Amino acid sequence: MNREDFPMLQSDIIYFDNSATTLKPKQVLNEITNYYTKYTSNAHRGDYKTSLKVDMLYEETRSLMKEYINAEKEKEIIFTSGATNSLNIVAFGFAKENLKKGDEVLITKTEHASNVLPWLELEKEIGIKVRYIPLDENLKLTIQNLKNSLTKKVKLVSIAHVTNTIGDVRDLEEIGKILKELGIYFVVDAAQSAGHRKIDVQKMNIDFLALSGHKMLGPTGIGVLYGKEKLLEKTKPLNYGGGMNNFFESDGRVEYKELPTRFEAGTQNIEGVLGLNAAIKYLNKIGLENIEKHEQELKRYLLGNLEKIDNVKVLNKKGEAANILFNIDGVFPQDTAVYLDHYNICVRAGNHCAKLLKDELGIKNTCRISLYLYNTKDEIDKLIEVLKNSKNIFEVVI
Ligand code: ALA
Repeated sequence: MNREDFPMLQSDIIYFDNSATTLKPKQVLNEITNYYTKYTSNAHRGDYKTSLKVDMLYEETRSLMKEYINAEKEKEIIFTSGATNSLNIVAFGFAKENLKKGDEVLITKTEHASNVLPWLELEKEIGIKVRYIPLDENLKLTIQNLKNSLTKKVKLVSIAHVTNTIGDVRDLEEIGKILKELGIYFVVDAAQSAGHRKIDVQKMNIDFLALSGHKMLGPTGIGVLYGKEKLLEKTKPLNYGGGMNNFFESDGRVEYKELPTRFEAGTQNIEGVLGLNAAIKYLNKIGLENIEKHEQELKRYLLGNLEKIDNVKVLNKKGEAANILFNIDGVFPQDTAVYLDHYNICVRAGNHCAKLLKDELGIKNTCRISLYLYNTKDEIDKLIEVLKNSKNIFEVVI
């Protein structure tokens, strides 16, 4: 799909590492170049034409994102440096202020480091208790296991929409309904889903949602924190400085601005916001349903072919998202990745920042293929051919 839009695909690489970051279409690159060549200015500070243009595009992005995830209000969209930053604001800006010692936070062992470490730190800081919802035999989160884990002490549940290893797609609508009835805060890490499937924060009753621009065709260093207005009002900003205050006096009197500006101290990542603007428009034009359909078709094709290779073992056959974890018998995953790179095939190997997964999977390191809209069956054919010849792997790697 749309391969001609992606300059990186003009080389002969086969890019299968889309869960780590996606390639960028020329529409995104042009928007960033235009900012630096035609209207470089700061945002929200100037009274001249180029600055006003930047303001307009910056706020347009907020509005596009509001529509993209169906938030109720623009002010519920905060620009951050990425999903990690967003989740840290939820933990240290919101939960630290609104949870207390003994309160429980539920996560799972297939969460990314960004959705584990802030909670473990908060456990040390204020004495909350982090508990793990058990996963089923396919390392997926079931509604029943979630329900069984809910005690009176549980105050917050923080889970990925789509996990970056197994590719478990969580039923956010059902989970949101259950948590809302019990008054439990619902935090969603949408880093792996935002560029792939529809999110509706209102329908899903999501209280906070974190996403990264670079995993949805946008630039690195830009992300979004969505929060319900009433909860963002109870969240303490983690950054203080220019742009987020109405006044401050030498005697300590300070007044901060309204949402969302209060959370955007200092000069923001303007090129990031503008690049994200183009990325959202690009994704809207193709349609997330079409992307998902394409990915699923490729995934079925890939799985069907991998199954025919004796020494290749797929480890997440039941995952729904378009990422496949696999290992070649007797080969260290990093060696597999180096072998594939020899043929210009990019995959990720290792623990994928999900370091608790090994407790459940019983395997510490894996190779991951993650597909996106521009991947093709031809590329998969090449991968399969190279994997079929992997008996020679050490001749190539060494
Ligand atoms: N979180 C990214 C990944 O899963 C970096 O690869």
